[in-house]
Amino acid sequence: MSDARPVTVDRPEPGVAVLTIDRPAALNALNAAVLDALEAAVAALAADADLRCVIVTGAGEKAFVAGADIGLMAGMDPRAALAFAETGHRVLDAIEALPVPTIAAVGGYCLGGGCELALACDLVYAAENARFGQPEVKLGLIPGFGGTQRLSRRVGPMRAAEMVLSGRMLKADEARAVGLCLDVTPKGAVLDHALAVARTIAAMAPVAVRAAKQVMARGIEAPLATAHAYERAAFANLFATADAAEGMAAFVEKRAAAFENR
Ligand code: CAA
Repeated sequence: MSDARPVTVDRPEPGVAVLTIDRPAALNALNAAVLDALEAAVAALAADADLRCVIVTGAGEKAFVAGADIGLMAGMDPRAALAFAETGHRVLDAIEALPVPTIAAVGGYCLGGGCELALACDLVYAAENARFGQPEVKLGLIPGFGGTQRLSRRVGPMRAAEMVLSGRMLKADEARAVGLCLDVTPKGAVLDHALAVARTIAAMAPVAVRAAKQVMARGIEAPLATAHAYERAAFANLFATADAAEGMAAFVEKRAAAFENR
């Protein structure tokens, strides 16, 4: 596919959207056009009440995303670089803030801004050919789309420091061992695996899934007692929803629940 449409959005099944970074000739590197397209796609998805889960992936088997576009960055001064980092942060924050679960389906290189994109997703699955890394120090740079912060929170500060300070790439099995991804699939099978997980999530009560995501995301940034208060409030609020009534009634009546997202 050409750069003219660098992000595609597919709806392979009800409630599930697949966002594909589609710039394989540059290993799906994030340039301004990709970031703009991603931002527009995410804004549209954020407003979609029928959405249940979003999968983010990269076109081709060679890369999820090999990072921010280095050719583009090579011409930047500090001012332009700050604007670029602000755009990257804004787009990845928007992905992180999507009200429904997000899944990164990673095959091939997942480097720099690509690793940062995966870190903005709730769940990460990887094909066996996946390679994760923050190689910015090789370029005289540091991660600029949240990697110095989200990576520590996901894998712990010391492992994150090793990755960011050395630029070392992790193979899929090692990435799983450190908590950078969950299951590792055969090459080419990661999108199907992500779709299966998305299908499972999409079958759950939508109001509950959204509430759980929101409470976990807000709570991790808060002191534990505050986070527990978020949980109690959200738990209680669900008792005012039709879907909680339906879910519990269905269990008691030994039948499948029919959720209505309300
Ligand atoms: N930006 C721009 N173009 C890139 C790119 C990137 N990040 N990564 C790969 N490409 C391009 C290559 O320039 C090449 O294009 P041409 O065919 O026109 O020459 C094409 O994609 C294929 O790449 P290679 O020929 O290099 O493929 P390879 O198999 O030999 O190597 C690789 C693969 C090891 C991933 C290598 O491409 C590489 O090291 N890429 C850069 C990875 C990197 O440093 N990422 C971090 C970027 S900085 C960043 O992301 C900052 C931030 O936090 C915001």
